[in-house]
Amino acid sequence: MKPTLVLGIETSCDETSAGLVEAPGRLLGHTIHSQDVHALYGGVVPELAARAHLSRLEAVVEETFRQAGRRPEEVDGVAVTAGPGLIGALLVGVCWAKALAFALRKPLVAVHHMEAHLFSPSLEDSGAVPPFVALLVSGGHTLLLYAPRWGEYTLLGQTRDDAAGEAFDKVARLLGLPYPGGPAIQTLAQEGDPARHPLPRPMLRSNQTPDDPDYYDFSFSGLKTAVVTLTESLERQGRLEEEKRHLAASFQAAVVEVLVEKTLRAVEQTGCRRVLLGGGVSANRLLRARMARRLGPGGKLFFSTPRLAVDNGAMVARAGLFRLEAGEVASWSLSADANLPFPNLRPRQGTRVP
Ligand code: KG4
Ligand code: ZN
Repeated sequence: MKPTLVLGIETSCDETSAGLVEAPGRLLGHTIHSQDVHALYGGVVPELAARAHLSRLEAVVEETFRQAGRRPEEVDGVAVTAGPGLIGALLVGVCWAKALAFALRKPLVAVHHMEAHLFSPSLEDSGAVPPFVALLVSGGHTLLLYAPRWGEYTLLGQTRDDAAGEAFDKVARLLGLPYPGGPAIQTLAQEGDPARHPLPRPMLRSNQTPDDPDYYDFSFSGLKTAVVTLTESLERQGRLEEEKRHLAASFQAAVVEVLVEKTLRAVEQTGCRRVLLGGGVSANRLLRARMARRLGPGGKLFFSTPRLAVDNGAMVARAGLFRLEAGEVASWSLSADANLPFPNLRPRQGTRVP
C-alpha cells in the first residue's frame, strides 16, 4: 500500500519541530518551538539544546496532530532527522521517533537534514521539483549541487571552512548583535551602505575556469577575519558604533555576491535555469532578490517562506515520505550520526564529498 501520511520530527539543532504531511505533499499540521535559551550565550549550547528538545518534543508532536485533526494511529510512517547535527540533540529525536514508531507498529524512516531542506519549497509550490541547481546555505553547511531528480545529486561546490550561516552568526557576534546573527545583520544592513567598506569576495575571480578546484567552492573564514580587522581599526578610531550598519551591509553584500555568482556558474555549466534555495540563510532577502535578478526572466527561482526556510519538521516529513515511497525503512537499531553523509551525493570530478 502506498504511504499517504507521514509524521516528521526535527531536533538536529535548536528547533524542536514536527510536521504532518499527506501525499503528494500537503502540509496538514506543523509546529516549531525555537529554543530561546541560547540567545543568552550568543550561540547554541549543545547540552541545553538536547534537554530542551526532550522537554518540548511531546507537546510539539501533540500540537501538530491537533492542528491536522488526525491521530498518531493514522500515520504510515515516522520520519526523523538522523543527521547531520548536534549528536545529543539528534539522539533525542531519533530515540523519541523510534519509540513512537515501535509503539504504533509503523515504519521508522531516517532522513538527512540537508536533503530535507531541498524538499521545503515543494510544500508551498508543487512545481519546486527537480531538475534544479540547489544552493543549501545553513548554519552548518554550504552546498552547491545539481539534482536531476529526487534522490540523485551531484556535488558541485561546498565551503572549505565556515558555513555561510556560521559567518553571519560570527560577524553578528563581533558587532554585538543577538543570535541568530543572520536576521540581525539583515535588519541592520538595511540602513547601511554596502559599498562603504570594500570586503573580499573569497574564491571568486574572473579568470577561474570550471577545471579549477575552487570554481564552485566557498570560503568564508577569511571574510570574517577581514571584518575582525576592520572592526578593530574602527574601534581604535572610536568610529565603530556609527559604522556598524555599513559593516553589516558590506559583509552581507560580499556573502550574497559570492553565493549568487557561484550558483550562476552552476546554472551556466549544467544548462539548468531552475534554482532552489534552501537552509536558514535562504531567508535572506538580498540573496533572494539578487539571485532572481541574475537568473533573469528565463529562469525559475524556488525558495520557502521564512518559516519553512529554517529548520522544521515539515520538510523532514516530506523527505521521509519520499524515502518511504522508495521502500526505505530504517532498522530498530538506527542511531543518530552527527556527520551523516548526504544520500546519493556523487562528487563531480575533483570535488570531495562532505
Ligand atoms: O537551516 P538553519 O535553520 O539551521 C541549520 O541547519 O544550521 O540555518 C540557521 C542559520 C543561522 O546561521 C542563521 O543566522 C541563518 O541561518 N539565517 C540567516 C537569515 N535567517 C537565518 N542568514 C542570513 N539572513 C537571514 N535572514
Ligand atoms: Zn538546517
